[in-house]
Amino acid sequence: MVYIGIDLGGTGIKIGLVDETGKILCKGETPTGVGRPYEEIIGDMGQCMLKVMGDNGYKADDIAAIGIGIPGIADTDGNVIFCTNMGWKNVPLSAELRKYLDKPVYIDNDATVAGFAEYICGVSAGTHSSVFLTLGTGVGGGIVIGGRPWSGFHGIGSEVGHIPMDIGGVPCTCGNDGCLERYTSATAIIRMGKERMSQYPDSLLNQLCENNPDKLTAKMVFDAAKVNDEAGLRVFNEYVDYLARACYTVITFLDPEVIVLGGGVSKAGDFLLDAVRARIPSYLIFKDLPYSRIEIASLGNDAGIIGAAMLGRPAKEA
Ligand code: BGC
Repeated sequence: MVYIGIDLGGTGIKIGLVDETGKILCKGETPTGVGRPYEEIIGDMGQCMLKVMGDNGYKADDIAAIGIGIPGIADTDGNVIFCTNMGWKNVPLSAELRKYLDKPVYIDNDATVAGFAEYICGVSAGTHSSVFLTLGTGVGGGIVIGGRPWSGFHGIGSEVGHIPMDIGGVPCTCGNDGCLERYTSATAIIRMGKERMSQYPDSLLNQLCENNPDKLTAKMVFDAAKVNDEAGLRVFNEYVDYLARACYTVITFLDPEVIVLGGGVSKAGDFLLDAVRARIPSYLIFKDLPYSRIEIASLGNDAGIIGAAMLGRPAKEA
């Protein structure tokens, strides 16, 4: 049997057919077009799903289930309750999608499914417990304990990005302020980079974005830091400090075997990993005891599709 995995993001909807081991057999993509009525967005999702199936010779009978990773939370009846960065509230995602293919639909948080994928066939494969942190437009958390995703009793348990980090701090899209994701996301790197650009007008940061703050990306900030540009380095060091504290928060609260850094920012690889690993010990309270291994995700952009698809795989096979 084959499982459909759908990764719903703010920019694109990625859809793949996945086998029981987590291997992607074929995939496709369609733009999300945030802001349109949800029926249209889910309609494009449904059409794209049928096209990926048709183009690759799969029929409805070949499909066991559909799994969807969303940048928010859903209830157990398949309704999206809250998707802050997409502006969705109470959207009947499962019911709408079943109009296109009538199969069981499983929905979970995007970071949760990415963490599940890393557990199945990525860097945290087979671990006792893991927490995945996706560092992108927002910051999400994915907890896997004993081989199954853990989203809490009410389904809201892994919203790491909205842990308060600074009372009265930077306003968040969720309505609160000072949330962890305001300091550890790609969005945060860009915000901090823009602040440093005006403070250091001759910096490499300014050159890289042609003196246009609107063109600044998180990658430009890290590229500047790598060659010791002062503005870039200040942002990088500040960012690493926040991220190390985020990891420390996870360690203190949950003590997982491994913390996996994923999402766009994690593409910085060892440059980021080495700095975060070096920073964490200064925060630990039990300095002589072992603590969570910190790793970079290994499945890249495919994690969302794989983990979503595997939500539909029976638990006993996990
Ligand atoms: C949302 C999370 C999501 C994360 C990454 C956060 O703002 O609250 O649910 O996992 O962004 O998309």
